[in-house]
Amino acid sequence: MSKNAEYLATLIRARAGDAPVRLGLILGSGLGHLAGAVDGVAIPYADLPGFPHAGVSGHNPNLVIGDLEGVRVAVFGGRAHYYEKGDPKVMRLPLEVLRALGADAVIATNAAGSLRPDIRPGDLMLLSDHINFSGLNPLIGEPTDARFVPMTDAHDPDLRAALRAAAAKVDVALPEGVYAWYSGPSFETPAEIRAIKILGGDAVGMSTVPEVILARFLGLRVAAVSTITNMAAGMSDEKISHEHTKAMAPLGAAKLEQVLREMLRTMR
Ligand code: HPA
Repeated sequence: MSKNAEYLATLIRARAGDAPVRLGLILGSGLGHLAGAVDGVAIPYADLPGFPHAGVSGHNPNLVIGDLEGVRVAVFGGRAHYYEKGDPKVMRLPLEVLRALGADAVIATNAAGSLRPDIRPGDLMLLSDHINFSGLNPLIGEPTDARFVPMTDAHDPDLRAALRAAAAKVDVALPEGVYAWYSGPSFETPAEIRAIKILGGDAVGMSTVPEVILARFLGLRVAAVSTITNMAAGMSDEKISHEHTKAMAPLGAAKLEQVLREMLRTMR
């Protein structure tokens, strides 16, 4: 754990209290409202030296620490992406801080395009696994042998089972699929989407994979859920845009909130 993460954790505890955090939540595009549902303290990233600026519209750059359904959580209202500054390890410090605050698990959320005709805009998809289509890695430059992180079952089977059970309980469909990380910020071409399909991808997006790698490196269990905002490039006549992503994300976000709240209730 870096000294800076320990220092930030001390600073956060001074503002939000000492009780250990149990779970981290990283909110994707259009999902930021969930941060407002937490009964706790919001700390702007700007108050946390070294935290990324998370300057993408549709994200809310606050760390909120408090109770959601009776479980102490740390909610990252905004994430930073590789495509903002070209740094694949931009989320390392936030995840180190999460670990330093006591969490042993994190759930990442994102907006994604679907490659599966049976998974439509407004639906959710639980990541069973991922493909690092970008070839980038947040652990490049890490000097220790800890960098050789196994990625089998990277998407934690127990957390996934808990999310599936919660979804069934609140009657929300939660199919599982493989997420492919495309660096962005331009969207994919139809040819790239056909390539991802051949490779085994079910959804595509511009985030999450570096966080999953970093989480495993730091010993955090991790699972991730996509809210599908569009069919991937070339799969429908709909025009793909960031505006469209932000407009569509709330459809899935309402379902995602139900699933997450139910999962937290079972953790109480
Ligand atoms: N591609 C990449 N990222 C996305 C998409 C997409 O189609 N939709 C939402 N985020």
